[in-house]
Amino acid sequence: MPLNIIIGAQWGDEGKGRITDLLAAQADIVARYSGGDNAGHTITVQAEIFKLHLIPSGIAHPGVTCVIGNGVVVNPAVLLQEMEQLAARGVSITPERLKLSHKAHLITPAHIALDKAAELLRGADLIGTTQRGIGPAYTDKSSRLGLRAGMFAHPEALGEAMHQHITAKNQLLQLYGADPLDPDEVAACYTGYAQRLAPFLADCSVYLDEALQQGRSVLAEGAQGTLLDLDHGTYPFVTSSWPTAGGALIGLGVGPKQVGRIVGITKAFTSRVGSGPFPSELSGTAAERLRGTGANPWDEYGTTTGRPRRVGWLDTVIIRYAVRINSLTELALTKLDVLSGLGEIPVCVAYELDGRRLEHFPTDLDLLARCQPIYETLPGWSEDITGARQMADLPANACRYIEFISTTCATPVTIASVGPGREQYLLTDVG
Ligand code: IMP
Ligand code: MG
Repeated sequence: MPLNIIIGAQWGDEGKGRITDLLAAQADIVARYSGGDNAGHTITVQAEIFKLHLIPSGIAHPGVTCVIGNGVVVNPAVLLQEMEQLAARGVSITPERLKLSHKAHLITPAHIALDKAAELLRGADLIGTTQRGIGPAYTDKSSRLGLRAGMFAHPEALGEAMHQHITAKNQLLQLYGADPLDPDEVAACYTGYAQRLAPFLADCSVYLDEALQQGRSVLAEGAQGTLLDLDHGTYPFVTSSWPTAGGALIGLGVGPKQVGRIVGITKAFTSRVGSGPFPSELSGTAAERLRGTGANPWDEYGTTTGRPRRVGWLDTVIIRYAVRINSLTELALTKLDVLSGLGEIPVCVAYELDGRRLEHFPTDLDLLARCQPIYETLPGWSEDITGARQMADLPANACRYIEFISTTCATPVTIASVGPGREQYLLTDVG
């Protein structure tokens, strides 16, 4: 059985947790491969809402083993908190069900303090990070200064290394004018985490390889999205990892021959949190209509930060870019129901730049900032579609919307979700 990969085709928050939950029903293993607790995945199971930041969304399925791969940066405090929250709801977390790569890097309180201090220093040019220490943790990884989860097996050595790490970072924090941390306190804290988390350590590359050879199916669960990719996203307004298909292979230690489906998740419109250009962005009441009021957990407010998300019409230039960067084999469309009741639905099909039509997503940020969206306007539908379970249940114009995306992006749309509930989706097989 292959490795199937779930990728965010936009700027994150596409509803990947939701689709992962759906596809996890047919998977034996669900593995996170990039990012850290900057991610926020909301899944609904029997009216119970789970908000997960670190533990793969597959945990809600009793038969699924979850893997936190080497490409993930792990804040052990958050991991332990999620394990406790899940346990309190009767979801048992044992070393048989959760495996943590010994190569995953640790996020420390110093990384979080540095993330905050660096954002303050950027002033108006801030990236709008989630302030979870993600950037500084990956910086230490690249600088070969990082501390890896494997050290949980050696608590004393970890304590010493953490003491040194905090002492060194305090000098940096001082330069930023930020408060120093207590090295003894942090070292003691991480020694305690080590005792609790050591049993979960595994060589995840070996574990996944053996599982694949035995015919078990692995689902790689993406965090963030293609446009937040450190290389291929809207740099510098990106995250510090590779949430794209290549990142899945590096972040799990699995080779490309194992890959089966590569499912790109896109909302039926576009959203983004944090700074940076966004050609099809809306403001005013049109934006409020797509964003929702925040009264529902699935409204467009950050799962991790609570910030209102920036929203706009669907941009197929972006989706075609995601198809190319990730070799997407299919698209899953989420939140189609949010568009119900709109008379007309504009879809961005290309950009105009200095009087020229651009079909491809420009990688130069200054160019992107000057791009004007070119829209094609599709007729909307007024019916409530939240009860639709097959294409035949959808109004003709909703089918047309799905078909239009498939044609414009030259990729089949295989799934559409029509509500937050686990059963509120249909298999579309369009294209
Ligand atoms: P960082 O990953 O916290 O460093 O944040 C960098 C950028 O990525 C900011 O614009 C964040 O808002 C964005 N970002 C990070 N994680 C997510 C996510 O899970 N969903 C949406 N945006 C995210
Ligand atoms: Mg999210």
